[in-house]
Amino acid sequence: MSTTERIRMVAVGPDDTAERAQWLEALGHAIDSSSFCLGSEVEKFEAACKERLGVAHAFGVSSGTDGLKVALSAAGVTAGDEVVVPAYSFFATASVIAQLGAVPIFCDVDPATLCIDPAAAETLISPRTRAILPVHLYGQTADIDAILKISLKHRIPIVEDAAQAFGVFHRGRPAGAIGTVGAFSFYPTKNLAAAGDAGMIVTQDDEIAHRVRQLRVHGDAGGYNHQMLGWNARMDGFQGAILTLQLQRLDQRQAIRQRNVEEYLHALQEHHLTSQVVTLGRTAGSDHCWHQFIVQVDDRDQIRNQLAERGIDSGIYYPATLPEQSCLATDRYPSDGLVAMFPVAQRAARTVLALPVHHRLLEGDPTRVIQALAEIVGNRRGN
Ligand SMILES: Cc1ncc(COP(=O)(O)O)c(C=O)c1O
Repeated sequence: MSTTERIRMVAVGPDDTAERAQWLEALGHAIDSSSFCLGSEVEKFEAACKERLGVAHAFGVSSGTDGLKVALSAAGVTAGDEVVVPAYSFFATASVIAQLGAVPIFCDVDPATLCIDPAAAETLISPRTRAILPVHLYGQTADIDAILKISLKHRIPIVEDAAQAFGVFHRGRPAGAIGTVGAFSFYPTKNLAAAGDAGMIVTQDDEIAHRVRQLRVHGDAGGYNHQMLGWNARMDGFQGAILTLQLQRLDQRQAIRQRNVEEYLHALQEHHLTSQVVTLGRTAGSDHCWHQFIVQVDDRDQIRNQLAERGIDSGIYYPATLPEQSCLATDRYPSDGLVAMFPVAQRAARTVLALPVHHRLLEGDPTRVIQALAEIVGNRRGN
């Protein structure tokens, strides 16, 4: 049953005292085995991920951002190269490209899913394109069937930003390892959550794996023999220990997210809100882990404030497109031309609203959120 308690946007940390005790015990194992930087706790987690996802290689790294940077570098992206990337995502999707001295080439997104629009992406490919970087935004894959075709046709590697899609499969293949290489984030609000920063790189490709293994540790081929410029991008043992525990709870928590979404969709229908509160479409062939449950609304800021007054938190992921970020802006993306260049992404940045969907919501909470939305939207119509 629902209560009138505040409905929070995120649920981080252990759920209860029993889980807290398990976390402490797991951290104790890491301490006792002196497994601090990589080591046995990370190896255990990597093995569990390989088995769960059916991937040949899984590397624990220090964050999703570092994972993407190493993955791009392993795929051959270097200074001066171009990487085609959606105009709408978290900042790190594009900043890692720029950090490597490469150039993010922004692409508009599909109005149904807000993931990269493959047809638009193909028009952006040039002789300098070194990779295409789809983002599996909000927990379902981008249209990876179409992106694979482009990749094959133009012989361009795919580096997947699967930060929001751990454990998601597309036609039986695991997000992150459908293309050449991909990275997950285990930031504490993700569906698989660490107790700090952590991430993972996955690939089915032995040659890429060989490069990742070295790039994660300063490009060290072993014995302080550095054949390439890498980074310190190691996952720490504490995160490995916590993540192994978290992985055991993933399915149970996933089922609650799914239940929440079903309740949202049912309540939206019941309140006849589906035209004012627009939900996103589904990518054909993809599962969904519901990292976020997204709606698009006009007058978003007012709606958000009024939800907050009714004890309901919400989020905006993301309030600006990537070419709007001043440190990524270039002459190629004049601020007065962005709406014409990226109509879908620019509109998304003004209308997207994330509603709470995490595993600590109670049955009835999504209905309460939609009832509040109905009241707010209804009042507006009456004005
Ligand atoms: C789409 C996307 N890309 C990259 C990242 C970066 O991951 P991290 O925060 O673990 O560095 C995130 C997570 O915040 C993300 O959501």
